[in-house]
Amino acid sequence: MKTESGAAQAAPFAGRKQSLIEDARRERSGGSGSGSPGPPGPPGPSRYADGFVFEEKHGRVTLTVLFGLSNEKHAGFFKTGKIFETFEAKLLHIESRPGRKSKNGATDLEFFMKCEVHSSDMDVFINSLRRVVDDVRPVPEEKVPWFPRQLKDLDRCNMLITKFDPDMDQDHPGYSDPEYRKRRAFISELASTYKQGEPLPTVDYTAEEVATWREVYQQLRSIYPGLACRQFLDGLQQLEKESGYGEERIPQLREVSAFLKERTGFQLRPVAGLLSARDFLNSLAFRVFQCTQYIRHPSRPMHSPEPDCCHELLGHIPMLADTEFAQFSQEIGLASLGASDEDIEKLSTLYWFTVEFGLCKQNGAVKAYGAGLLSSYGELVYALSNEPEYKPFDPEETAMQPYQDQTYQPVYFVSESFEDAKTKLRRYSATIKRPFAVRYDPFTCSVEVLDQPAKIRNSLSQMREDLKTLHGALEKFSSS
Ligand SMILES: [Fe+2]
Repeated sequence: MKTESGAAQAAPFAGRKQSLIEDARRERSGGSGSGSPGPPGPPGPSRYADGFVFEEKHGRVTLTVLFGLSNEKHAGFFKTGKIFETFEAKLLHIESRPGRKSKNGATDLEFFMKCEVHSSDMDVFINSLRRVVDDVRPVPEEKVPWFPRQLKDLDRCNMLITKFDPDMDQDHPGYSDPEYRKRRAFISELASTYKQGEPLPTVDYTAEEVATWREVYQQLRSIYPGLACRQFLDGLQQLEKESGYGEERIPQLREVSAFLKERTGFQLRPVAGLLSARDFLNSLAFRVFQCTQYIRHPSRPMHSPEPDCCHELLGHIPMLADTEFAQFSQEIGLASLGASDEDIEKLSTLYWFTVEFGLCKQNGAVKAYGAGLLSSYGELVYALSNEPEYKPFDPEETAMQPYQDQTYQPVYFVSESFEDAKTKLRRYSATIKRPFAVRYDPFTCSVEVLDQPAKIRNSLSQMREDLKTLHGALEKFSSS
């Protein structure tokens, strides 16, 4: 630490008007929070940093810190930069997500930060942070990662991966089109402010956006009959008949969600972009599909580096109208709740090679059911040509297969049927190590954690009642 503590010691403390750096220097030189400077304290137990230390090595400590920033205190974020500068702290990782709502209704931000500072600066570093941001606290020790238990908890499943969006990805067709980026940001904002239970936002699509949709729809629709699986074709036909699918307009999430809810209990939720694997998979546990609403750039109607409404509405939605497939999707979601990072990576790879790029056998032929294929003319034709390698779907092997997000997949996995895939996935999920089991309660749309004998007994007695009903129904058949 090389700050000029001598100068700070000489300066009188002038309350909150004093600069943050001077505050930090003063504290570092031994002053307490009361403002009376004093000699540096001896090394000893930490006064402020208990619980923050992640690792200590060679006189440096790695800290993990959570803090909040109220909407009106965004300057506090920049002041943290000054603290880093002052203490020569090394930022190792930072994440943000919407936190609690403040009194004026604005959404606060919550930050998770991992950083490295000199051991002797630890207390004063934490205390300095407390002066500029809110609610500085250690990351609670959790053996099981947080996961949603109720539908409303999905408001917290909003961690975005921004590397493919047009503000970050120089290869995105919309990167150099400020008008496109502005429009995408406007539509994404509708999703960012959405809360569970509110009516799904509608988008007044422009004539240019509808023209892009029309081109994609026409191209893909022409090859679906020979290449898509039966469940997809059935779902699409129903959507065209009952939910306004067609070339002339982009369907609204609200009407599509109502359609799915009636058929398989799935519902849609708007999302601002590509979600983190954990948040996306966790939502599936509740039969909630997080769905983008913006459309790809008009210059490249057959390609989008990120999910857009063509990918969601054409690739995913028809399949989610199928009962077996909906169940399969929810099974992956339930397996992801509270799973370790390593298991989330395996489950998202499984998701990738099934829900996104899966093939299945039907009447002796191989057909596509993955949304990544069914929303991409080029890859759909390629995947069902003689070129790629096929392997039978085996969760153990599929979960370890390296995947490709820049070009076509080198290998595709073929399921015997969705029923077969579901059975194999269930067997695989049982191998995921969690100190509890989960059960979805369709009446309350919540997840019950079966971690106590009383809860398990209660679930068993409900199942017995269901079995009695089924047994009674079977007896009626056999006696007639
Ligand atoms: Fe997708």
